[in-house]
Amino acid sequence: MKKVTDKVTFCHGATIDTRLIQTPMLTNSGKDEKATQDTIDYYNSRSQSAGAVIVEYTSVSPNGGPSRSWARNREQLAIYNDDFKPGLAKIAKALKKDGNKAILQLVHSGREAKYRHTLGGQVEVPSDIDFPWIDYPLHELTEDEVWQIVKDFGAATKRAIDCGFDGVEIHGANHYLLQEFFSKYSNRRTDYWGGSLKKRMNFAKEVSKEVMAVVKDYAPKDFIVGYRISPEEIHGENVGYTWHESTQLVDMLTTNFDFDYIHLSLLDYKQKPTDSNKTLAELLGEHINGETLEVVAGGIRTEEQMEDALNYMDLIGIGRATLMDNHIAKKIKENKGEEIYHCFTDETLKELHLPAGLITFLANLPENMKLPGTDVLLKHVETKLGYAETHE
Ligand SMILES: Cc1cc2nc3c(=O)[nH]c(=O)nc-3n(C[C@H](O)[C@H](O)[C@H](O)COP(=O)(O)O)c2cc1C
Repeated sequence: MKKVTDKVTFCHGATIDTRLIQTPMLTNSGKDEKATQDTIDYYNSRSQSAGAVIVEYTSVSPNGGPSRSWARNREQLAIYNDDFKPGLAKIAKALKKDGNKAILQLVHSGREAKYRHTLGGQVEVPSDIDFPWIDYPLHELTEDEVWQIVKDFGAATKRAIDCGFDGVEIHGANHYLLQEFFSKYSNRRTDYWGGSLKKRMNFAKEVSKEVMAVVKDYAPKDFIVGYRISPEEIHGENVGYTWHESTQLVDMLTTNFDFDYIHLSLLDYKQKPTDSNKTLAELLGEHINGETLEVVAGGIRTEEQMEDALNYMDLIGIGRATLMDNHIAKKIKENKGEEIYHCFTDETLKELHLPAGLITFLANLPENMKLPGTDVLLKHVETKLGYAETHE
C-alpha cells in the first residue's frame, strides 16, 4: 500500500521523503524576466511544502515568453542568457535549504507569449492560422528557427544545472509551444515538424533528446528530468488530440528516454474521458514504460484526497493547495494533516509570501478555479497592494 509519507527514489537516483510534489505555478513576480526579492521570498517560504518543488515556467528563448503580466513591471521568469542565473540560483538555494528537491520548469510559450508582443517582440507558432481568441500577429517558425529552439532548451538545461537545480521539467502542456506542435489543430506543417502524428511528435522528441544529452554531459548522475503533458486538447469542435494520441506520445517519450517522471496537468485528478470508465491518470499510466513515475495534479487538497489519489498515480501533484498553506508536507510528516489551511484568511496571508501579481491573478481566476477566501485576496489587492493590477 502506497503512503503519502513514503520515501521515493527516481530512476536516476534522487530520493524524496514524501510522495508530494509542488506543481509549477507562475508567481508573476519577475522584473525584466529576472527573479526579484518577492520571487525569492515566495520560494524560500515553500522549502517544506512538498518533497520536490517545481519552479514556475521559465522561458528558454527570447520570444519564449513572457506570456501574461498581472502586475505593473512584473512578469514571467526567463533563462535564455547567463544574466538570469544569479536570481535563479537564489531560488534553487532557498528551496533546497531543508533537503527539498528544486526542479525548474522550462518552456517556450509559443502563441501564448502575448506580453512579448506588448513589449514589441515576435510571437512564434508552428502554423500561422486564425485562432479566434488571438488578437496579435503570429510568426510561423522556419525549420531552422525550430532547431534553434531545440538548442535553447539544451542551453537552458545547462544553466539550470549551473544554478544548482536538482532537475528540470520540460513543459509540454497547457497550450504552449511543445503542445502546439503535438496538436493537429495548431500544427498544419508538412516539413519534418508536422503532418502525421509521428511527425507532430518530432519537436517533443528532439527537445527531449537535447535536454537528455546536456544532462548526461553536465549534470550530477541523480539529476531529475520530467515531462509535463495535457492529456487531451479539445476546443469545441476543433480537436487538437485525444487521450488515445497522448498514449502514443507517452510511449514515445518513455521508450526513447529514461524520464524520471511524466506529469499530467489536469483540473480533476479523477477525470475520465468520454469513451472510457478509467481515469486519464490510469489510461496514460498504462503507457508509461520502464521505471518512469507518474505525477498527476488536479484538485488535490486534503489528506483524504491524497490517499485516494495514490490509487491512480505514483506521485501527488499539489498546486493551489500550496498557495493556501506553504507547509503541507511538513504538517503531514508531523501527523498534523488536520492543521492544513484550506482557505485564505488575513492571518494566513501574512505567512504565505504571495507576490502581488500572483494575488491579482488568483483574485481574477475563473469561477471554477477560484480558491476559498478569494474575498480576502481581493481586499489586499484593493488596499495594501495598490500597484497590483491587471496589466496584460
Ligand atoms: C497561479 C497558477 C499558476 C500556474 N502556473 C503554471 C505554470 O507555470 N506551469 C504549469 O505547468 N502549470 C501552471 N499552473 C497549473 C498548475 O501547475 C496545476 O496543474 C493546476 O493548478 C491544477 O492543480 P491544483 O488543482 O493542485 O492547483 C498554474 C496554476 C495556477 C493556479
